[in-house]
Order: sequence, then C-alpha cells, then structure tokens
Amino acid sequence: MSAPPLCEGRVVIVTGAGRGLGRAHALAYAAEGARVVVNDLGVGLDGTPGPDSPARRVADEIRAAGGDAVAHGGDIATTEGAASLVRTALETYGRLDTLVNNAGFLRDRMLVNLDEDDWDAVVRVHLKGHFLPLRHAAAHWRAEAKAGRTPAARVVNTSSGAGLSGSVGQGNYSAAKAGIVGLTLVAAAELGRYGVQVNAIAPAARTRMTEETFARTMAAPTDGFDAMAPENVSPLVVWLGSSASAGVTGRVFEAEGGRITVMEGWRPGPSTDGGARWSPAEAGDATRKLLADAEVPRAVYGA
Ligand SMILES: NC(=O)c1ccc[n+]([C@@H]2O[C@H](COP(=O)([O-])OP(=O)(O)OC[C@H]3O[C@@H](n4cnc5c(N)ncnc54)[C@H](O)[C@@H]3O)[C@@H](O)[C@H]2O)c1
Repeated sequence: MSAPPLCEGRVVIVTGAGRGLGRAHALAYAAEGARVVVNDLGVGLDGTPGPDSPARRVADEIRAAGGDAVAHGGDIATTEGAASLVRTALETYGRLDTLVNNAGFLRDRMLVNLDEDDWDAVVRVHLKGHFLPLRHAAAHWRAEAKAGRTPAARVVNTSSGAGLSGSVGQGNYSAAKAGIVGLTLVAAAELGRYGVQVNAIAPAARTRMTEETFARTMAAPTDGFDAMAPENVSPLVVWLGSSASAGVTGRVFEAEGGRITVMEGWRPGPSTDGGARWSPAEAGDATRKLLADAEVPRAVYGA
C-alpha cells in the first residue's frame, strides 16, 4: 500500500505563486493532496504592474490535474491584501494550515546608485510582504489555539543567499532577506506555543529573476537532471509545510538542485574579556588577535 499524500486535508497559501519557485511549490503541494490558495499580484521583474493574472493560470493548472486551488490576486505587502489572502483560505476551505511566503522582486543597483524608491520597494515587498501575511495567519492560529484547537501550523519563509552572505549590487535585497531570517527566528520563538512552526529557505533556481545569473547553467541537462529547475526546491518546502516536519522550527535551509543544507547562523566565535574598559588601541590589538583565530566568513556573492 502506498503512503498517503503528505499534505492530505491541509490548506496551503503560497504567495507569488504565479510563476517561478512559488508556482513550483503550489503544484507540489497540490500533488501531495493540499488545497492551495495561489496568490500573485502579477507584476514585472522590478515590481511594475503587469497585465496578466498568473495566479489564475496556476490555479487552473492545479484543477486541470485533479487538484483543488483558488486564485488570489492581491498585494501581500498591504494590510488589505494580506488580510484578504488569509480570509480567502478560511472562506473557501474553512481552515488554514500552511503559509509559504515567497513573493518578491528585485531592483539591483550598486549602493551609490540605489535610489530611495528602489530601497523602499524591495524592502517593502520582501520584508513587509512576509510580515503582514504572517501576522494575519498567526492571529488566526492563536485564536484557534485559544479555542482549544491547537493547529499543526507551518510557515515557510523565503530568504536568500544574498541575505545570508551578502550580494554585490543587491544592498536593498540582501538587507530585506537578512531581515526575513531575523523575523523567522522571532516568529518561531513567539508562535511555538500556538502550534506554529516557522522556518526559512534560501533557494537557488532558474526563474525569470535569475535567468542572467544562472545563464551558464541554463544549457539543457545532459544527464536528465536539470539541477536549476525550481521544482527541485519544492520538496523541502512541502515537507516543512506538512505535519511530518513536527519539531523543526527556527531553522534556515539552503536548497538547490538535489542539495539541502542546514545553515548554521551567527554564534559567538573567539572572544576575550579584559575585565575593564579598553583603550581604542588596546581594543584594536585584542580584536586583531581574535580575528586571527576566527573562521573566515563566506565570500559575499559577486565580490
Ligand atoms: N530564483 C532564485 O534563485 C532565488 C534565489 C534566492 C531567493 N529567491 C526568492 O524566491 C522567491 C521567488 O522568486 P522567483 O525566482 O520565483 O521569482 P519570480 O519573479 O519568478 O516570481 C515571483 C512572483 O512574485 C510575484 N509578486 C511580486 N510582488 C508581489 C506582491 N506584492 N504580491 C503578490 N505577488 C507578488 C510576482 O508577480 C512573481 O510572479 C523570491 O522571494 C526571491 O527573492 C529566489
């Protein structure tokens, strides 16, 4: 007898699921039996309004394959968009089990050319676009827990190697994606008591966002495995969003091709205590000694 689908009975929201990684996640959840709320505002690569409705296309695709899905076209970085997204899950399916925060776009520029608008737009869509759906979903789950129906709720956030290591030309994006890691840690600590687990992924895949970055690996796969396909990232996202991942929270994972890596974050390295206030020169000498013993950080992408 084959195992039951991993997400049977669960209702899953995926933001920015009209294309790229979000679309792959939505299809993968549906294939594991989840009912999916497919959110996408349908914007261009830089966040400018687009003419099409990719969320509806993906919801249609899921239904055509025998699954269950509903489209939501709101902006997740607004209170109304985030609230109506959670409402759509509850009004359509009567429950919400998993939130995958994934939507976003880029406005890459070197720091000296980065306009205030480019900063605000990118920080808004990623950081506020994670916070608002999380906040509205968490309020629902807290109410459920208080009513004696503690859920096995899951949140999967989307950071990036740019947020973990930095990326040249992506000061706005790197800051927002690092912020998402901080938000993930706090949410995991605060929401555990309500039955909510919160983790983050740092994916890598070929989408319209990374076509140029991954141009070298875009050639057709020779051994039948397309390592940069977004579908390779989704299995981890589906597992983290299922009840099978019980006990896993506050973690960050890199996912690319067939590789999954647990990221080990900031922790104290070499340390010294002089027992009194240093002079600046003494602090400098002590710090240089510590640095000689410290691990060399991962290189900033593009440096
Ligand atoms: N592709 C990669 O290698 C990679 C690497 C690291 C992180 N990421 C992250 O993964 C996520 C998905 O990226 P992708 O590569 O699939 O990009 P993508 O451009 O293919 O998809 C992003 C989707 O988000 C939607 N969107 C943008 N703003 C929105 C808003 N305000 N409300 C609702 N939907 C909105 C867009 O319309 C688009 O369909 C992003 O958060 C991205 O930063 C991707």
